[in-house]
Amino acid sequence: MLFNAGLLVLSCLTASVSGFPPSHLTQAGSGTDVVLSCSLVEEGGGFGAMGAGGGLFTRTPATLVLRDLPVSPDVSPETLTPYIPPATPDPEDIIIEAKVTSPEIPEADSLLHADCNEQEVTCEISRYFPRGTEGTGLAYFIGSVQLEGGGISMTLVLQTLPPVGEDEQPAVSPLLQNKLELPLSQSGTLLTEVAFVVFSRSQSVSAPLGGDVLLDCGFKQQEPFPARAMGLEWRLQHRGSGRRILELKAEETEEEPIVHVDRNGSSVNPVVAVEEGNVSLSLEELRVIDEGTYICTVSTALFQAQQVMQLYITQPPRVSLSVDTVLFRAGLPQKVSCHCERYYPLDVQVEWMYLPPSEKEPISLTQNASHSSHRQYSDGTFSLSSHLMLQPSSMPPGTVVTCLVSHPSLSAPISVNLTVSKPEPTGRPYWMMLGVAIATLLFLYIVLR
Ligand SMILES: *[C@@H]1O[C@H](CO)[C@@H](O)[C@H](O)[C@H]1NC(C)=O
Ligand SMILES: *[C@@H]1O[C@H](CO)[C@@H](O)[C@H](O)[C@H]1NC(C)=O
Ligand SMILES: *[C@@H]1O[C@H](CO)[C@@H](O)[C@H](O)[C@H]1NC(C)=O
Ligand SMILES: *[C@@H]1O[C@H](CO)[C@@H](O)[C@H](O)[C@H]1NC(C)=O
Repeated sequence: MLFNAGLLVLSCLTASVSGFPPSHLTQAGSGTDVVLSCSLVEEGGGFGAMGAGGGLFTRTPATLVLRDLPVSPDVSPETLTPYIPPATPDPEDIIIEAKVTSPEIPEADSLLHADCNEQEVTCEISRYFPRGTEGTGLAYFIGSVQLEGGGISMTLVLQTLPPVGEDEQPAVSPLLQNKLELPLSQSGTLLTEVAFVVFSRSQSVSAPLGGDVLLDCGFKQQEPFPARAMGLEWRLQHRGSGRRILELKAEETEEEPIVHVDRNGSSVNPVVAVEEGNVSLSLEELRVIDEGTYICTVSTALFQAQQVMQLYITQPPRVSLSVDTVLFRAGLPQKVSCHCERYYPLDVQVEWMYLPPSEKEPISLTQNASHSSHRQYSDGTFSLSSHLMLQPSSMPPGTVVTCLVSHPSLSAPISVNLTVSKPEPTGRPYWMMLGVAIATLLFLYIVLR
């Protein structure tokens, strides 16, 4: 998948994954600390980088400690143990402590429960150089934390805090982290605070053709909140090409945010966006071309961060059989078809089986069937037919033949049936009888008029 270059470096990489043991769920002060195993991702293949993946990036193990996450009352305190930094500070270690009290992290609870639910957390950190922060003496990181399996996903901007000595004065000659060359706290950690966060609570959404959907995205930042000036862009990337869906710009000097809509029926509530940081995108009357990767980019005076989510369009097939009943004439095989129409996406599975009256379990016929190729309509949906020759020898009257269709849009497969009917008692072909009847009527008509 292709994304814009720049900030989105993070999502181009395969995730380094780590579950964390419950002992790493730790309590401190009013909230709880969560310890995540992360990778520090850097551009370029320097020497000594561990676990280098690909030629372009190097990854170094790192630890992210999210401090003071609010605890919900149902977390039992026994499971929480205080976070203990290493006994002797090691300038090789990369331990980033992030204060998260303001702005608060949404649904941080789900991170606390991730371990119990056997969900994995992906965490990657890289250096970030926001425009306009040169010469401030502050360093920045961008961290991407994702709960596998469709939970919360967030991109955090971390801003370093100057380390302080025992007397709360700036430390005089603090230990420097070897790789980052940044001053460490007395316990050997890099102190930061969360300055900005963009998050989404649904990384993947399915919605029906013609329906509506809301793609979740939000942001929070340190003061000033609400954000007086901000920018928002929603883009759609699909199969290597991208287009803008919507853009919003709020300026301090303007009364109303300016919204530019590129896709009809898409909207963001500008008031909620600016005042609550809720920049969720609403899309109406979904079409197949709306499917793809959506990127929500929020920028403020200093920072810019993104969330990426997938939208899948689904439409169940309409399933029908060419006939309801089959009558074998003159003992000849009969062709029947099962039609699956107007579905999306492409992967549909058709199975055939039959159940003679004497049997208890249906017998599969799928390998005897032949499929037409897929046809695609202008709205992007597909159709397919499956054909089968029924043999009179194996199908006595009363046999039920079933076409069973599975599709990702269906929670259970659709089944349609036909039955094999009894032959005419005279054994004479039906059309002959019909011919005789018509001839008789014609004869009577001529004679009697
Ligand atoms: C944004 O608002 C919508 C309702 O308009 C709500 O369903 C959604 O949960 C909100 N999202 C965030 C991130 O607050
Ligand atoms: C959007 O709607 C307007 C007015 O209904 C119409 O003129 C325009 O062609 C539409 N644009 C697209 C891309 O469908
Ligand atoms: C299915 O096909 C096989 C040969 O490929 C044939 O022997 C068998 O009779 C067929 N079954 C039915 C029920 O048509
Ligand atoms: C088709 O027949 C099978 C048994 O052979 C039955 O389980 C299924 O419910 C039937 N489907 C319909 C739509 O009647």
